[in-house]
Amino acid sequence: MSKSILITGGAGFIGSHVVRRFVNEYPNYKVYNLDKLTYAGNLENLKDIEGKDNYEFIKGDICDGPFIVSLFEKYDFDGVIHLAAESHVDRSIKNPMAFVETNVIGTVTLLNAAKNAWQGKEGKRFYHVSTDEVYGALGEEGFFLETTPYDPKSPYSASKASSDHFVRAYQNTYGLPVVISNCSNNYGPNHFPEKLIPLVINNIQQKKPIPVYGKGENVRDWLYVIDHARAIDVIFHKGENGETYNIGGFNEWKNIDLVRLLCNIMDEKLGRAAGESEGLITYVTDRAGHDLRYAIDATKLKNELGWEPSLQFEEGLEKTVDWYLNNKEWLEDIVSGDYQNYYKDQYQ
Ligand code: NAD
Ligand code: TYD
Repeated sequence: MSKSILITGGAGFIGSHVVRRFVNEYPNYKVYNLDKLTYAGNLENLKDIEGKDNYEFIKGDICDGPFIVSLFEKYDFDGVIHLAAESHVDRSIKNPMAFVETNVIGTVTLLNAAKNAWQGKEGKRFYHVSTDEVYGALGEEGFFLETTPYDPKSPYSASKASSDHFVRAYQNTYGLPVVISNCSNNYGPNHFPEKLIPLVINNIQQKKPIPVYGKGENVRDWLYVIDHARAIDVIFHKGENGETYNIGGFNEWKNIDLVRLLCNIMDEKLGRAAGESEGLITYVTDRAGHDLRYAIDATKLKNELGWEPSLQFEEGLEKTVDWYLNNKEWLEDIVSGDYQNYYKDQYQ
C-alpha cells in the first residue's frame, strides 16, 4: 500500500461518499474509516465496499485522546481527511455542547495526535472538511470568498469556525501541513432525513406535512454530494498546504421554490395528480437566528485546481429522488428509530 489514509466520519452522509471514492479510485491506498456511529452514522451507506482489502472500519470517538494517539502509532497515517462532526443546525440550537465536544474538542484531539506523530516527517497532510456557514449570512447580493471574514451565527457554525481556527493555528504554531475546504449545502443519496431535501422526500412519500420554516424565503446553494467528494479528492491531492478552497455549485434556491420543485418531481414519479404534494406544505415557526442566504464563489477551486460541478441541479435532484424511491428500506430503518423520536419532539 502506498499511502495510509484516515477518514473520520466515513459512515455519515458525505463521509461515506468520500470513503467509497478513495477505496475505489486508489486501490494502492489503505483507507481507515473512523466513526463513532452516532445517530447519523450508518454502515449501510458502505455495504458495497465492505470486505475490500484496502478498506477497514474502526469504531471510535475522535474525542478519545489516548485512543486516537494509539491509532496514529499503529497505522502510521500519511493523511487525514476529517469529516466527523455534529452537523445539524437545529440540533445545535437544542444542544450546543455536543457540537463543542465533537467539532471543537474532537478536532483539536486529532490535530494534537497528528502534530505529535508527524514531527520531523515529510509528505503528511491534515485535510479539514468545513462549511460555508462559518462566513455567516449574506443579504440579497454577493458571494462568500475564501477571504470573507468569519461571522458564524449558529452554534453549529460557531463550532465549525472554531475548529477551522484551530486547524490554522496548528499550521502557524507547529508547522502542521493542513488544508481546509468550505462547502455549500450538499444533497444526494444517504442524506439523513432530518435535513431539508430528504425530509421533504420522506414526508411526501408518507403524505405528511412538509414543514417550511418562516416564509420559505431563505436561500441555500446546493451541490451534489458526489461532486463534493470529487472536490475533496482534488484538493487532497493537488491543493496547497495552508490554503483554503471554497466548494459550491453556483446553484442558489429559495427553500420554498426548492420544496415546490421536489413536490412536482415526486408527484410525477409517484403517479400522483399534479399539485397534490404541494398541499402538504405547512409554514412553521422559523428557526432561531435563521441565516438568510448562503452563496459560494468557487472560482479559486476552478482556476487553480480545475474542479467544476459535473451535474445540473435538476438532474442531481432527480437522481436523488430515484435513489430514495429505490432504497425505501434505508429510509424506513432510520425513520422508525432514534430519528423518529427526535422528529416527534420537533414537529408534532
Ligand atoms: P453527518 O452528520 O451525516 O455525518 C457525521 C458523521 O460523523 C457520522 O457518521 C457520525 O457517526 C460521525 N461522528 C459524529 N461524532 C463523532 C465522533 N465524536 N467521533 C467519531 N465520529 C463521529 O454529516 P455530513 O453532512 O456528512 O457532514 C460531514 C462533514 O462535512 C461535517 O464536518 C460537516 O460540517 C461538513 N459539511 C457538511 C455539509 C452538508 O451539507 N451536509 C456542507 C459542508 C460541510
Ligand atoms: P438544512 O437542510 O437543515 O441545512 P442548513 O440549515 O445547514 O442550511 O436546512 C436547509 C434550509 O431549509 C434552511 O434554510 C432551513 C430550512 N428548513 C426548513 O424550512 N424546514 C425543515 O424541516 C428543515 C430541516 C430545514
